[in-house]
Amino acid sequence: MSTDATDPSTEQPTREISLTINGEDVVADVEPRLKLSDFLRDRRGLYGLRIGCEHGVCGACTVSMDDRIVKSCLVYAVQADRSDLVTVEGLADEGDLHPIQRAYHEDHALQCGFCTSGFVMATRELLAETPDPSDEAIEKGLADNICRCTGYQNIYKAVRRAADYTQARADEEGRMGERDQEDDA
Ligand code: FES
Ligand code: FES
Repeated sequence: MSTDATDPSTEQPTREISLTINGEDVVADVEPRLKLSDFLRDRRGLYGLRIGCEHGVCGACTVSMDDRIVKSCLVYAVQADRSDLVTVEGLADEGDLHPIQRAYHEDHALQCGFCTSGFVMATRELLAETPDPSDEAIEKGLADNICRCTGYQNIYKAVRRAADYTQARADEEGRMGERDQEDDA
């Protein structure tokens, strides 16, 4: 259970932080002991990330900070000062699911869904580093996330599908860029 760091009876001196969250500039006063996971959920309403173990073990609280995934239960909000944060809420594009979210949906890579946002964020980093991962690379890339429901097979399938979607999108963007250059010529 998270400590309510906003309880007035336990008020501590605060520090101002300024950061970007899902493309939005945010300035906030936070207590030094406030965890990033609590800040994002309780103060920013970003409930996509989940708080499971609070010990850095389950990966349910995974978010991206300056293009590296972190377990937000292990980071203090003050440590995110001047960073660029992305949570699962920042992935969809005007209502269109991100290719990774679409793949998880189509392969039914979840049951209760508690772990899913963490897996999606870990998959995003994996595919950014390894666009066409082997089975071994997928297992390794997702090793810091725990799912208690699915048995993992559909998650691995979804990652392979997401890799195909991501590659197809990159190819399409490349073709559009070439067409734009031809039109400008
Ligand atoms: S809640 Fe952060 S790793 Fe489990
Ligand atoms: S879907 Fe339930 S914990 Fe992963």
